[in-house]
Amino acid sequence: MRKIPIILDGDPGHDDAIAWVLANASPMLDIRAVTTCCGNQTIEKTTYNALRICTLIGLNAPFAKGRKGPLVAEPIIAPTVHGESGLDGPKLPEPAFAPSGLDAVTLMAKVLKESEEPVTLVPTGPLTNIAALLAAHPELKSKIAHISLMGGGIDFGNWTPAAEFNILVDPEAAKMVFESGIPITMAGLDVTEKALVYPEDFERIRAVGNPVAKVVAEWLEFFYGFHRSKGYPGAPVHDAVAVAALIKPEILTMRKLYVAVETEGDYCKGATIADRFGVTGQAPNTNVILDIDREAFVQLLVEAAEHYSEEVQA
Ligand code: RIB
Ligand code: CA
Repeated sequence: MRKIPIILDGDPGHDDAIAWVLANASPMLDIRAVTTCCGNQTIEKTTYNALRICTLIGLNAPFAKGRKGPLVAEPIIAPTVHGESGLDGPKLPEPAFAPSGLDAVTLMAKVLKESEEPVTLVPTGPLTNIAALLAAHPELKSKIAHISLMGGGIDFGNWTPAAEFNILVDPEAAKMVFESGIPITMAGLDVTEKALVYPEDFERIRAVGNPVAKVVAEWLEFFYGFHRSKGYPGAPVHDAVAVAALIKPEILTMRKLYVAVETEGDYCKGATIADRFGVTGQAPNTNVILDIDREAFVQLLVEAAEHYSEEVQA
């Protein structure tokens, strides 16, 4: 089976961490690089978290720290959701390796240049690094096969009534990505708010018993804490849906739509606006994920946790 070459770019973040556990366990994916962005926490904290996650799961791919903050806007961070560290909860190993000496854009460009085939980007935080890559290396656009991202929502936001966090943090970057012409699969809130992992599912994962499974269960418990206070029945593991779209698209319902990003406005800045009725005359630029088989999604996470029972930890 031919593996899909991917680059993970995220702001871990509990759900980024779980998405990376899922990606690293999949025999379908070949992780060519890991890069970090400023989002859930500062770039320093997300980078430290990313190195510890990669150490825990034995992912020793080329690694680079991303830009300090959004292209234009001031950073917004989310300590209420992910804690002061950005990945509060279970104790994690100290990093077993150092980042490459490259910045994220340089590393991503190097991977794209050296790859024999186009590479899929899997951003699960603000799209700052992706936009910066497109701006600095327009000649490499043809080496990007697909962008499977977590971000946006065509019906509602979560950080403002109109905007989802990842898009709102860097709307100028998101606009560049959605206007790039590169095939995009968008795991927005329309589906990720249905990608709920319930407390009984945490126990299924914990019962797998290996060190990674136990940490994932504790990440889920911490992440659920904020959402339980908002009345959720489970933890919405947003970012893992962007990975599920690559390894198990059959559990998802998608629709091709033209999506535009609003970068102005007091109320709608960061909104991802979908043209459901074709009134703009614009061709669809995004595969918008609208629904998910929740049970099958949870089963994916359980099977990913089981993968780490087979491998010797790093
Ligand atoms: O709105 C959810 C998104 O914002 C997720 O990617 C989460 O990790 C945060 O970055
Ligand atoms: Ca994220």
